[in-house]
Amino acid sequence: MARAKVAYVCGDCGVEHPKWQGQCSACGKWNTLREFTLQRATASPGASATGYSGTPPTVARLAEIETAALERMSTGMDELDRVLGGGFVPGSVVLIGGDPGAGKSTLLLQVAAAIARRAPMLYVSGEESLQQIADRARRLALPLDNLLVAAETRVEAVAELAQQHRPSVMVIDSIQVMHVESTGSVPGSVTQVRESAALLTRLAKQTLTTVILVGHVTKEGNLAGPKVLEHMIDCFVMLDSPAGTRFRTLRSQKNRFGAVNELGVFAMTETGMKEVANPSAIFLQRPKEMSPGSVVTVTWEGTRPLLVELQALVDESRSGYSRRIAVGLDPQRIGMHLAALHRHCGLSLTDQDVFANVVGGVRISETGADLATVLAVLSSFQNRVLPRNLVCFGELGLTGEVRAVPNGQERLREAQKHGFEQAIAPRANLTKTPVPGIEVKGVTSLAQTLEAIEALG
Ligand code: TYD
Ligand code: MG
Repeated sequence: MARAKVAYVCGDCGVEHPKWQGQCSACGKWNTLREFTLQRATASPGASATGYSGTPPTVARLAEIETAALERMSTGMDELDRVLGGGFVPGSVVLIGGDPGAGKSTLLLQVAAAIARRAPMLYVSGEESLQQIADRARRLALPLDNLLVAAETRVEAVAELAQQHRPSVMVIDSIQVMHVESTGSVPGSVTQVRESAALLTRLAKQTLTTVILVGHVTKEGNLAGPKVLEHMIDCFVMLDSPAGTRFRTLRSQKNRFGAVNELGVFAMTETGMKEVANPSAIFLQRPKEMSPGSVVTVTWEGTRPLLVELQALVDESRSGYSRRIAVGLDPQRIGMHLAALHRHCGLSLTDQDVFANVVGGVRISETGADLATVLAVLSSFQNRVLPRNLVCFGELGLTGEVRAVPNGQERLREAQKHGFEQAIAPRANLTKTPVPGIEVKGVTSLAQTLEAIEALG
């Protein structure tokens, strides 16, 4: 016999509570609990001492489990394939998040059209009408012959369509508008998102269909019901749309089948999302006349180097406190670097506002940009232009030491390829065989880095 049980689920973190309360005791958010009816089976009379009844569960030796090489399906776009770790894995669930208007539907429609030429493909939209989708596809001049589309928000109906048409890949745009009819709560609630995703995940595993879920970001920057989705899905990629640019960056944040933090770059054009094969080139469009506060660094994103320009502006603070504002960089790290500059080099910026920005809207998540950030700040503070052909990378420690970063040689090669002729890099990154065409000054401390800059003239 099954009996209905009521639980109260936090809309933010997904934790269940037996009673309604104003504040979630797990995440501390107010007014986020929603009622949710659970079906719980009661222990049957034939149960064992543990309360278990039914067919005996089995275990297996891991060594005896046969595995097949994962056959991945290309998405038709190299940038997307790389972010996914080599294409779609059959039976996996991929969540693609991003702001409204980032280009998720556009990108997935392009991918769907490309896949439909090779394999059965179903695009389910709960947000746009079939006419709107057809209109967009025609405008993008996509091949449409084999692409199946449905305008549907009932998950059970989507599952039925999947049974009928057996797609290899299925897009659900978006998970927030999907609802399971047997669950009594409103579409968009965390319960519906969770139940819909759970049903679609089961479907993916059972039928080996790749399911791609689109998820909108809330104004706090979270996916609605993020925690409840994150452990269900195999791969979570985020499409970022920096304000004021047509470039879009796609980054993997979780991937059971590949590396995380892999970066793909796209441009939104009149004819849809275009891959940017050489992102270093676009982030480096600098004016002929160089200004103080600009330094180029080589970051390592996933499996490849990326050249980006860092800019800093240091200005006398007019309010009572000095501001440290960073876009694309971690402001807390900048605070650390400023303390290191003061303590180890005697340079105080306590009465100065410091602004730092990564040009092109890229977000840097690694420490290799530390040294370049400090140089950009100093360059602005001292009103001194750094040479156009200089590139710089390295991690900065609290004791003022410059630490090695992964893939130093590849970073130098990438810089040289883009015309940089001198570099300041951690000494520990230098090898016996130098990279031809670029003169590298190896440094071990922040003080040495400043000396190296003085020596540049
Ligand atoms: P869309 O894919 O609908 O975003 P999302 O699904 O992430 O909400 O993209 C919508 C934006 O993209 C919209 O502002 C118009 C723009 N766009 C282009 O610039 N070029 C195009 O070819 C298309 C289809 C859209
Ligand atoms: Mg959309």
